Formats: sequence, structure tokens, C-alpha cells
Amino acid sequence: MSAIQNNQDIEQIYKDNLNFWDTAWTRVTKIHKDPPKLPYIHEVARKFKKFQLKKVLDLACGSGWLSVFLSKYNFDVTGMDISEAAITLANQWKKEDNIQNIDFVCGDIFEMPFPEKTFDAIVLNSSLEHFRYDQAKIVFEKISKTLVDKGFFFGCFDQVGSGKGEYFELEDSTHVYTDDMRKGMMLRNFTDEELKGLLSSFDILSFDKNTYGSRLVWARKK
Ligand SMILES: C[S@@+](CC[C@H](N)C(=O)[O-])C[C@H]1O[C@@H](n2cnc3c(N)ncnc32)[C@H](O)[C@@H]1O
Repeated sequence: MSAIQNNQDIEQIYKDNLNFWDTAWTRVTKIHKDPPKLPYIHEVARKFKKFQLKKVLDLACGSGWLSVFLSKYNFDVTGMDISEAAITLANQWKKEDNIQNIDFVCGDIFEMPFPEKTFDAIVLNSSLEHFRYDQAKIVFEKISKTLVDKGFFFGCFDQVGSGKGEYFELEDSTHVYTDDMRKGMMLRNFTDEELKGLLSSFDILSFDKNTYGSRLVWARKK
């Protein structure tokens, strides 16, 4: 393991990580339409209903399973992911099932291609782990700006990085995988204290742990 400091290296490592995602999504030939059996997604939909939220952004949506799940509750859902291959799959799903209340957009969290205060709620599911700590700070600034005043945030933050695999480490302990399976993928474990710090512009409404050890965070913009 070695620490990388050079900015050019850091940029290239991040590009390789994005390339990992696009390649991974390109390999998906069949869309898996069954949502994972995760009890919290029903709770998220129930809460959004309770607060009569309408416009929901599923950030880093992948091929869109959570967007599709939420669309069944009649929210106006936008799913955004940086991978063109993922958004192509998501749009294929939308077309096949003739879903009217979803838009899928190919875009970068760091550019956030929406006007300020667009969404009543933003969900970020199992994705923050793929950013460095300095990037995660920007992710939450973007989320906060894109939410309406008093808008809601739900995040699932997985416990990662303790399994097998070959990788080197960046200064902030982000793992950069070098084995064939995950070559280029970045993975970082965020501590509870870090998550709470990243959410400093939010009131944290609940901070739970599920049976997989993932942090489930429900929060409201201050
Ligand atoms: C682990 S997947 C999670 C996908 C989905 N949220 C889920 O729960 O299955 C992480 C996703 O983040 C996307 N991603 C990575 N960097 C991104 C960025 N800068 N902007 C938008 N999406 C990004 C990847 O393309 C990938 O689809």
C-alpha cells in the first residue's frame, strides 16, 4: 500500500474509477427488475408520502431500480448517473414498462445539472463510498443547493473496505482496487463522525444501522 499525493495521479485515479463504472454497466446485458429486498426503501417511500413530497432525485441511480421503485408511489422521479451505459439501461427499462413519471439523466454529481432548489427530496443509495473524503464534502454541498428549503435527504452508507481484494490507499484511506474484478474502483469507509460532519447543513432526523451494518440516514436541510 502506498499513499498518493500528486494531483495528476489523483485525477487519473478518479477517471479510472469512472471508467470502471461505465465498463461495469456496459457488461450488463439484462436489466434486473426486482428491487433488492431492503426494508428501508419502503420506509423511505412512506416518509416521502407522509410529507407530501413530489419531486425526488435519485443520485448516482445506476440502472435505476430505486427510481423505478419510487415512481410506483407516484413521485416525479429523476434518476441521474454519470455512466452513459447505466442511463441507457435505465431508459430501456422506462420504455419497456412505459413509465411516465421518471426522467433519467446522464450527469456528474460535481456539475449537478439542475437549478438550485429543484427537488423536495434527494436519495443517495450505496454511492458515497465511491468518493474520496474531499469529494464527499462537495457532494453534500451540491445536494444541499439542489434541495428546496427544508428539503429532505435520505442516504444509505455501506460499511465497506474490510473484505478481500488488492488495492492501494490514498492519503484519506480511500482504497483503489487493482485486482481484475474491480480494477480502478475507489472505495472508502465513512465513519459515523465523518457522516455527521458532512451533514452539517442538515438536521439529522434519524441515524440508524441495518442488519448489514449500513448507516441509514434521514435528514432535513436546515
Ligand atoms: C454502487 S453504484 C450504486 C447505484 C445505485 N444507487 C444503487 O443503489 O444500486 C454507484 C453509482 O455511482 C455512479 N457514479 C460514480 N461517480 C459518479 C458521479 N460523479 N456522478 C454521478 N454518478 C456517479 C456510478 O456510475 C454507479 O452507477
